Amino acid sequence: MSQQNNLTYAFIGAGNMSGAIIGGMVNSGVNPQSIIATNRTAEKQAKLKAKFGIVTDLDNLSAIAKADVVILGVKPQMMADVLADLVEKGADFSDKLVVTVAAGLLVKRYTDIIGNVRFIRCMPNTPSLVGHGISGLYTGTDKEAFGPDVLAADKVTATALFEHVGNVVWLEKESDIDQLAAVSGSGPAYFFAFMEAMANKAKEFGFSEEIANLMVQETAMGAAKMTYDKENSFAQLRENVTSPGGSTAAALNVFNKNQLQNTVNEALDAAVTRAQEMSKF
Ligand SMILES: NC(=O)c1ccc[n+]([C@@H]2O[C@H](COP(=O)([O-])OP(=O)(O)OC[C@H]3O[C@@H](n4cnc5c(N)ncnc54)[C@H](OP(=O)(O)O)[C@@H]3O)[C@@H](O)[C@H]2O)c1
Repeated sequence: MSQQNNLTYAFIGAGNMSGAIIGGMVNSGVNPQSIIATNRTAEKQAKLKAKFGIVTDLDNLSAIAKADVVILGVKPQMMADVLADLVEKGADFSDKLVVTVAAGLLVKRYTDIIGNVRFIRCMPNTPSLVGHGISGLYTGTDKEAFGPDVLAADKVTATALFEHVGNVVWLEKESDIDQLAAVSGSGPAYFFAFMEAMANKAKEFGFSEEIANLMVQETAMGAAKMTYDKENSFAQLRENVTSPGGSTAAALNVFNKNQLQNTVNEALDAAVTRAQEMSKF
């Protein structure tokens, strides 16, 4: 039996993201009775209980007291107030692994409030909702205070937690989170924007919305699946569908003329810069 099977998890703020992780955990066979979720709304709690058979609690304090792993899933702008209130009411995080999924807040913002505890910051992305997430993980645990064995065990726990909703990437530096966020965090929006543009043009050609959307969806899904064939790089796959002088080549020439790579570079750099600015708030 792995160490994860004996742990109790408390999700403080169980909305979309926490709900996705809880769903992934339950589907992978984690005992629902080892998962506690809190929200402010009783109705939301009843839904979670009915859907997943987990333990629900409207009291953050009692949920935290029962947990080995506390997952913070409230909105970033609420986080400091929620934590300060909990600490004031006597919440003790000292024997817990605390994991946050909130975007933009530096580890220090948390530890200034809850103390020097074992802490992991996670940047998940929306495809976690369908089991294809990328979660960037950074350990903010004080290495001197806790030592390598504790750190290694917590890494195993966090990896298992987020592998329930996709893949996990460990990051060396906290600032790497901003770069990961520019690629995989914001990435779904880039693909949606591209799909939107393709569907718009397909409709202009005269296709119905239904057909236009289907063509774009299946093309995106099929192309993404083909990239998992390890024998061909992205570039090779592109070349394979591009006959010299053909119509695909004509389209790609337009992208190149309009500096696709430069546009992508500039966009991702802008996302990193904005993330750096926001983490200073
Ligand atoms: N969704 C994503 O794809 C995504 C991606 C990356 C990062 N994140 C991060 O994930 C976090 C949650 O985002 P989300 O999209 O899941 O938001 P969400 O659906 O609004 O979930 C937040 C939950 O927190 C609950 N909550 C608020 N105040 C609370 C309190 N004092 N005690 C207990 N629960 C409380 C809310 O419940 P009530 O409605 O009952 O108040 C709500 O269910 C954010 O910090 C965000 O940055 C999300």
